[in-house]
Amino acid sequence: MVITLAKETPILDEQDITEALRTENIEIDLLITAIKEKLGYDLSGYARASIKRRIKQLVIDENVKSISELIPKLLYSAQCQANFINRLTVNISELFRHPTSFLSLRESVLPYLESFPRRDIWIAGCATGEEAYSMAILLEEAGLLKNTQIHATDINTDVLKQAKTGVLTKALNKEDATRYQASGGTSSLSNYFSTAYNKHKLSQHLLDHISFSHHNILQDKVFCSAQLVMCRNVMIYFDLNTQNNALTLFHNSLVQNGYLVIGEKESLLNSPLINLLKTIDEPAKIYQRKSSEHV
Ligand SMILES: C[S@@+](CC[C@H](N)C(=O)[O-])C[C@H]1O[C@@H](n2cnc3c(N)ncnc32)[C@H](O)[C@@H]1O
Repeated sequence: MVITLAKETPILDEQDITEALRTENIEIDLLITAIKEKLGYDLSGYARASIKRRIKQLVIDENVKSISELIPKLLYSAQCQANFINRLTVNISELFRHPTSFLSLRESVLPYLESFPRRDIWIAGCATGEEAYSMAILLEEAGLLKNTQIHATDINTDVLKQAKTGVLTKALNKEDATRYQASGGTSSLSNYFSTAYNKHKLSQHLLDHISFSHHNILQDKVFCSAQLVMCRNVMIYFDLNTQNNALTLFHNSLVQNGYLVIGEKESLLNSPLINLLKTIDEPAKIYQRKSSEHV
């Protein structure tokens, strides 16, 4: 009698797993080098776990068998490169995100901005533009938009294209209105948008005060000199050392006594920069530059 044995799934022992992980790490390093050389993006400062997750997702999206197979595709296919940047970057945003921050800005920063005849505001990592639109609305309500330029930047050219149109990626909803009210909004949010075919577009006179440009926080220099820099929910994807480099860049772009706003889940506590910035409102994540010296 012949007994057929069920085919067994090979069980990897600890040594096999360690070896597989080591190989995977080599593949990731090679891919990071290829991206840096080909596209000029240094990914080594992004949190490793997050990069790994995104690369693995791209392996599935691009229908290749391994990270190694992804490398030539990334080198030769512009479409694959664009997909990679889209995968790498989380582009989620919304109007008046973290309303506590906008409410506090109205109270603690707008009077400072008012003391300047002209103002520059840098919004780094602006994604699809909602943060810059919210800032324009806030300034309009305070009568300060007229002499203000909002410089909104991002690494992802696709989201910048979308942001430039002024059209919201999602139709205005109740949650947007609630966050706007919680931010101290004095009107109705829909007053700032025109509507066509269930799409909402920011009023042109507000959009005219926002420029959208490509800028890589990890590699490019200070974008502009500003009284207010806002970079929220971007540094969360960076490792600690890179977060500090980004904070140094923001510090150096602020005029003396200028203000910095970071994301709700981001912190300055582990940064040496904490000594150069005064905490204005910790829950709202608003800080102020103390010295005029560059670091
Ligand atoms: C989660 S969104 C945050 C959007 C907005 N700041 C907010 O809080 O709603 C993160 C944005 O950071 C951008 N980003 C990631 N790495 C960047 C870099 N090195 N330089 C500039 N922007 C970057 C991404 O493209 C993405 O649009």
